[in-house]
Amino acid sequence: MSKNLRIAIDGPGGAGKSTVAKEVARKLGIDYIDTGAMYRAIAYKFISCGLKPGIEDDGFTESLNKILVSTDVDYSRGITRLDGIDVSDKIRTAEISSAASSFSAIPSVRKKLVSLQQKMAQEKSLVMDGRDIGSNVIKDAELKIFLTASPEERARRRYEELCQKGEKVEYEVVLCEMKTRDQNDMSRELNPLVKADDAWEIDSSELTASEVVKLICDRANQLFCVEK
Ligand code: DC
Repeated sequence: MSKNLRIAIDGPGGAGKSTVAKEVARKLGIDYIDTGAMYRAIAYKFISCGLKPGIEDDGFTESLNKILVSTDVDYSRGITRLDGIDVSDKIRTAEISSAASSFSAIPSVRKKLVSLQQKMAQEKSLVMDGRDIGSNVIKDAELKIFLTASPEERARRRYEELCQKGEKVEYEVVLCEMKTRDQNDMSRELNPLVKADDAWEIDSSELTASEVVKLICDRANQLFCVEK
């Protein structure tokens, strides 16, 4: 008998979720959805429309909700689309990282994206990564992973990534931003970053991405016969 295999991978920023999730999906021949990219895309739209994260002045909620109802966000085959336009390259800046963390705490934003993500996860095998996938978006996922690493290791990885892209950054600043984002993501009222009770926690501080991919694929292959 074969059935759908939905793998939820949650964890803090910089733990390696996207790299691992993408490779697990490729190896198992199933779809991959990056929900963080969806929050980044919507944050990009809000900023482009003049909304400032964290500054909820007069008319903020009204403007935000107006933008929200007329905005289309999609993630498919590695491409993040905002109102039909590929914004994949525009949403990976430090400004958007911080804005996405801030806007993602707003209930109407979460409601819209969670509902889209739940539709995407219906009746098919996939790997979905984010902060609340196992605890909220796909509560009955067949395999749940909570991927962590120490803040210092996560900051080191992010720092190297940014340096490789030619961005001038300081490690201490990256570490401080990472800790602030962790705090935001874990302390928001609605769907905070938490390990689901039935999630398997993997600390990747001392593991390569390939080693983590192997652990997850082995577990998936043990548990399921994947139906694509
Ligand atoms: O995974 P990421 O760094 O691309 O995510 C950007 C932000 O989006 C993150 O700081 C919190 C938010 N996010 C969320 O609230 N829920 C998710 N499922 C995914 C991301």
